Amino acid sequence: MPKIIQGKFKILYNKKAGPDYFKMAICAPGIAQKALPGQFVHLRCQNSVEPLLRRPFSFHRINRNNFEILYKVVGRGTNLLAKRRKGDKIDVLGPLGNGFTATRSKIILAAGGMGVAPLLALAEKLADRKKIVVLLGAKTKGSVLCAGDFKKLGVKLQIATDDGSQGYKGLVTDLLKKLLLLRATHPPTSLGTGNAQRTTIYACGPKAMLKEIARISRRFRMPAYASLEEDMACGVGACLGCAVKTTAGYKRVCKDGPVFNLQEIKWS
Ligand SMILES: Cc1cc2nc3c(=O)[nH]c(=O)nc-3n(C[C@H](O)[C@H](O)[C@H](O)COP(=O)(O)OP(=O)(O)OC[C@H]3O[C@@H](n4cnc5c(N)ncnc54)[C@H](O)[C@@H]3O)c2cc1C
Ligand code: FES
Repeated sequence: MPKIIQGKFKILYNKKAGPDYFKMAICAPGIAQKALPGQFVHLRCQNSVEPLLRRPFSFHRINRNNFEILYKVVGRGTNLLAKRRKGDKIDVLGPLGNGFTATRSKIILAAGGMGVAPLLALAEKLADRKKIVVLLGAKTKGSVLCAGDFKKLGVKLQIATDDGSQGYKGLVTDLLKKLLLLRATHPPTSLGTGNAQRTTIYACGPKAMLKEIARISRRFRMPAYASLEEDMACGVGACLGCAVKTTAGYKRVCKDGPVFNLQEIKWS
């Protein structure tokens, strides 16, 4: 288990990336050099005791001496985070949790909304070694995130929007089903042959989406892993505040996850 670092580190930028979205880069070489896609940092949103609880964010980009998070402003903590400025110091705890492990040669990344955050880090790590198909789901064209970043990596990209304003009209899980059905009935061109044996799905997004991916992956006998999100307090496995029900009893998202095999999760 790599050492967890806690300290105050300099914000390199904190810029708008969409209507309610921001990207923040933090210069923290010790954390960046240990970080794995799927792991996360626990941030104090401002330098005071209030709000008391840190907020968890996935590594979105991992560089040699810094890392980037992509976040959506949804409540008090992220509102305060959005006010932080370049040059400010921010209190960071990380890297935390277990990241994605990729052993198979072909991967499908399925992102729902903000779920794209950890999947770009994974794609950047694997793009030169694996065949990657990225399925990006969003409500509308305006909320499609990171399409340009994935294109730059040369991966195959398909977009689904709820209202059809960009790409396929419907859910990202429908796109996934279509892709897998197509490959089951036709010799695949995008991922080569023997896909079910060689392909793994990695996902992040709303619970309903992950539950559906668990069902689809079972049907197509393909392993699927996802980074889960639960409200967190300590972030290091001490408070049991983030427990999820699994086939092996309750597990802590912060310490045993956040990446889980989707067949392990007991959906309620
Ligand atoms: C592993 C992981 C990775 C994540 N990665 C990302 C990411 O990359 N990008 C992103 O946008 N989001 C990510 N999230 C979600 C993100 O952490 C939340 O959106 C964020 O915490 C919202 O904070 P908020 O204060 O703005 O919202 P709020 O809804 O105000 O607060 C969020 C949570 O903080 C706690 N809380 C707040 N106030 C109190 C209180 N008074 N008493 C007790 N508890 C309180 C609660 O648990 C509450 O649900 C991730 C979550 C997890 C678990
Ligand atoms: S947040 Fe405390 S155990 Fe996970």
